[in-house]
Amino acid sequence: MHLLPEEEQVLAGEYGETRQKMMEILAAIGTVFGAARLIPIKSAQVSGASYKTIGDAGLEWLTGLDARVSVPTVLNPIGMDRAAWREMGIPPGFAKKQEEIIAAYARLGIRLECTCTPYYIYQTRFGEHLAWSESSAVSYANSVIGARTNREGGPGALAAAIIGKTPEYGLHLVAARKPQVHIRVEGGDSWDDVARFGALGYLAGKIAGNRIPFFSGIRPRRDHLKALGAAMAASGAVALYHVAGITPEARIFSYAGSDIEQIPVTAGEVAALWNEIQVDAVALGCPHCSPEELSRVATLLSGKRVKIPVYIFAARKVIDSCHDAIAAIERSGARVYADTCMVVSPALERYRTIMVNSGKAFSYVPDMCGAAVRIGTTEECILVATDGAT
Ligand code: F3S
Repeated sequence: MHLLPEEEQVLAGEYGETRQKMMEILAAIGTVFGAARLIPIKSAQVSGASYKTIGDAGLEWLTGLDARVSVPTVLNPIGMDRAAWREMGIPPGFAKKQEEIIAAYARLGIRLECTCTPYYIYQTRFGEHLAWSESSAVSYANSVIGARTNREGGPGALAAAIIGKTPEYGLHLVAARKPQVHIRVEGGDSWDDVARFGALGYLAGKIAGNRIPFFSGIRPRRDHLKALGAAMAASGAVALYHVAGITPEARIFSYAGSDIEQIPVTAGEVAALWNEIQVDAVALGCPHCSPEELSRVATLLSGKRVKIPVYIFAARKVIDSCHDAIAAIERSGARVYADTCMVVSPALERYRTIMVNSGKAFSYVPDMCGAAVRIGTTEECILVATDGAT
């Protein structure tokens, strides 16, 4: 990979050891993937922020770094709500380690917005180059916004954040964004809940693997797209997809829909993921809820009381902008938490069965929380949680 003279100086250690290490990471990634050069990025999003996932080894690595990020950079969800960790039942020892991780990231100049939905907080535009690492955020940025990012590992995203550049390969190149498999959905044109799209994504991710799918037969709105992409990134390794007539690049590539492998997925196959097992808790907000999703949950909970624990997750700035919805939700006994999520927090490990409205959570909860999982629409989740009570 060709480096500019000033990039060579960074690599030679003339701007400090940390920047040198970060340039080494970028140069190694660029060389492995055959990048011609580094390109500037607009923002970064760094995963590897929960003590549950990075442990003491990750904390030690972070505390040894000494540099500042060069572009706006946010964090992925951490292991607890920073303001309400006691209420979540997080052990003090875990909270202490988590705060040390947060402090290490803050010293690097990273904004302590801990969310997988940074696009609700910072405007991200079509065509911008990014270095994001959380898989659902990567999918949303590429597919729904039309920005360009590879699915970075935590160190790769951090290196890009500090240097302000990333190697130009993969999804940064238009030629690599063409669809590779056509998923023809039968009976999905009237779906209107994130869970149906999440369940479709769960199946489609297994079909697509790491290919770029092109969907027809569905009419998803933005929250539905978020659910679809998040699930495909979990059950497969999909970092970009197109939906006919909906996503910004579908028109550019629509010609390819007819000459690539076509695979049908039926509404019946999606419905077969539903079961009726008894649940101990309900968790919503994977990926983190949008204001519209919080408002819908508030409406569904209005005048009701929950009979089992209900956890709802969203970015703190989104929560702060939705006072009325949050008040209505919490009057029911459900709780809304910021900074964290059902998968990266240890808080939900105490339940045997968790009900979710997310295809990604459906994929991850069994391994990450050690619980059985049930998927349902948002309305079904609230019905189960309130048991029809008013
Ligand atoms: Fe976000 Fe956690 Fe789900 S990071 S996509 S809420 S697993």
